[in-house]
Amino acid sequence: MLGKKYIADLIGQMTLLEKAAEMTQLWGENPDGTLMGILRGFHEKEHLSANAGSLLGFNGAERVLEAQRLHIEENAHHIPLLFMTDVIHGYKTIFPSVLGLGATWNPSLIEESAAVAAAEAAVSGVHVTFSPMADLVRDARWGRVVESTGEDPYLNSLCAAAFVRGYQGDEIGAPLHIASCVKHFIGYGAVEGGRDYDSVQLGDYSLYNEYLPAFQAAIDAGCELLMPAFNTVNGIPCTSSRRLLRTILKGDMDFQGTVISDCTAICELVAHGSAEDNAHAAALSLDAGVDIEMVSSTFYENLERLVETGEISMQQVDGAVERILTLKDKLGLFENPFKDADPEREKELHLCPGHRALARRAAAEALVLLKNENCALPIKKSERLALIGPFADSRKLIDIWGLVNGKETDCVTLRSALEDYKTDYAQGCHLWNLRDMDEERLPDDELIAQAVETAARSDKIILVLGEHPDMSSEAGSRTEITLPENQLKLLQSVCRTGKPVVTLIMNGRPMVLNEVAASSDALLVCWFPGTEGGNGIADILTGRCGPSGRLPMTFPRATGQVPIYYNHLPTGRPNTTGRYQPFANGYIGIDPGPLYPFGYGLTYTDFSYSPVSLSAAEITLSDHSGPDEALLTASVTLTNTGAISGTETVQLYLQDMAGTLSRPVRMLKGFQKIVLEPGESCTVTFPITAKMLEYYIPGKGLSLEAGTFRAYIGAHAQCSAYQEFHLKGGY
Ligand code: NOJ
Repeated sequence: MLGKKYIADLIGQMTLLEKAAEMTQLWGENPDGTLMGILRGFHEKEHLSANAGSLLGFNGAERVLEAQRLHIEENAHHIPLLFMTDVIHGYKTIFPSVLGLGATWNPSLIEESAAVAAAEAAVSGVHVTFSPMADLVRDARWGRVVESTGEDPYLNSLCAAAFVRGYQGDEIGAPLHIASCVKHFIGYGAVEGGRDYDSVQLGDYSLYNEYLPAFQAAIDAGCELLMPAFNTVNGIPCTSSRRLLRTILKGDMDFQGTVISDCTAICELVAHGSAEDNAHAAALSLDAGVDIEMVSSTFYENLERLVETGEISMQQVDGAVERILTLKDKLGLFENPFKDADPEREKELHLCPGHRALARRAAAEALVLLKNENCALPIKKSERLALIGPFADSRKLIDIWGLVNGKETDCVTLRSALEDYKTDYAQGCHLWNLRDMDEERLPDDELIAQAVETAARSDKIILVLGEHPDMSSEAGSRTEITLPENQLKLLQSVCRTGKPVVTLIMNGRPMVLNEVAASSDALLVCWFPGTEGGNGIADILTGRCGPSGRLPMTFPRATGQVPIYYNHLPTGRPNTTGRYQPFANGYIGIDPGPLYPFGYGLTYTDFSYSPVSLSAAEITLSDHSGPDEALLTASVTLTNTGAISGTETVQLYLQDMAGTLSRPVRMLKGFQKIVLEPGESCTVTFPITAKMLEYYIPGKGLSLEAGTFRAYIGAHAQCSAYQEFHLKGGY
């Protein structure tokens, strides 16, 4: 690192327009494929292109080496560019979608996957990734749910920190690591109606207790950058909110890093109706704390005049430039502007066997087994399998964010992964009947008829259904979170053969699966499993690996139940029967609970839980010191009562029975993945600390209130075994 003085001297030599360019991120490529900026084709604004601080989505070692060399020549102060891109769940070796990674409930696996992604991206010249997305999501209609790790603040926090550690390594600038940008601050997952970019109403109780923790975890893990969300919160766009970015983020949360706007979000302040024009938008966002403007150029076009009129100060501009240049310095770019970019190492690392092996393990660990009756799984070599469905022989195993840099052609299909088994394949129907209507193709009815013939000849049907990857993406919100009609028709048709049916779902969100579950002997949720998807799924189907994934989000019975999440507040009229009752919380004619709760997932064996036991039932706070020290412990004895070894995810939930503010019916506070052989038992113990019992009270701050608490331990968010303890003292 060259340090503060070097950066201060550099800033001292820069003109205001050069500073504004440094604060601008250009799109690396025009939509028509021609190169922008330093690689020409952007002649009208050569000054901006020569002095821009960073490029979006421009990577590949050869291109980066060339672009960086040219840029340093042309830049007035020879300042190197930052190359930033969306490395979301892999670079060339694509891991399961982030929601699938959340379903592994395995932060160390997430950290390893992020380290692999960082290494592959770093050798292609990437310096910064726009990941993790730490947004809490409760509305499965929202298309970007696929990029989240789900509905729980605790699980999201562990995952966000793991991503950051994996990308950045022990020290920022370390070889084969990249800087991480946590996004979208804040409340993007709470957009009204699940419609992308919509407004958000968020009170401080929910903001502090539910939405901020995963961002705080990413910041505490050392995350270098942060991106404000597109949406408004309580009427103010996040991009221009002084309260969110200055008071809360830089103040309460102590974020010292660089803030980059989302794509064109600054000029969108005009469309939001919160800025008069682009100049006003630039002034509002700089004042709120944005350092880099992504893609649009309101900073570049307006900062000179805004400083001249005194609407913003030179000090504010210098603060932003200092943070950007410090990031470049921390990454070591002033000493080696090319960092890890290396065409030879690209060949060595991209999709190398070790990376593929980890992606395969992640794909398998992400799968969640929701049903397994009549010994449907694992499959046997002696069985004749009808492999049916639009995903059975498809490479569409990657979501849109994986496709930013990854390729479907690198994916392993399920059909090829089951080569050693006796399979007969039929496509069954098209993936999405609204898509590709002009294409010359067989009508669904003919495909279904062929599939029924194939199914009739088999011992067992493996039916592979799901959403088109475009259905869960940015601007990919849905009104019904069901499978497409034609796929449901295929399901009904093959079920009529009477053969056992194992259904696999590829999905980017929780889905309504009532009919699918009722018609299938076994049901597995696979998410979009990534490059090694076929192999990872085959590992579970064949029993080479046991299923261990758990739902990171609640699966509803009907889209109308959404938003549905396990850690909701109690009502005055709770539904205690688990069935529809008038004058109780719920909907007419439908069981009020979910189809599958948060944390749910089966294994190929069975586990029994002893009653919960506590080390103490009466606790006095003053007897104990720090917030991380155990006040008591809660434990169970877990036994594998089945015939094979298996991994159980034992979950601890706490409930604060009464507080100044009504508290959630329960909250995940710990989990452990335990591997047991048949007949084996072990004691699983969770410490319960003051920190786990604290919550934020608006106007008062972090509080711990005396009273009665319940500790539940079990296999999912609806587990019923608990013990109570009483706390005296508080703050
Ligand atoms: C818009 C998305 O909201 C954000 O998540 C992404 O990182 C940027 N575009 C850059 O691609």
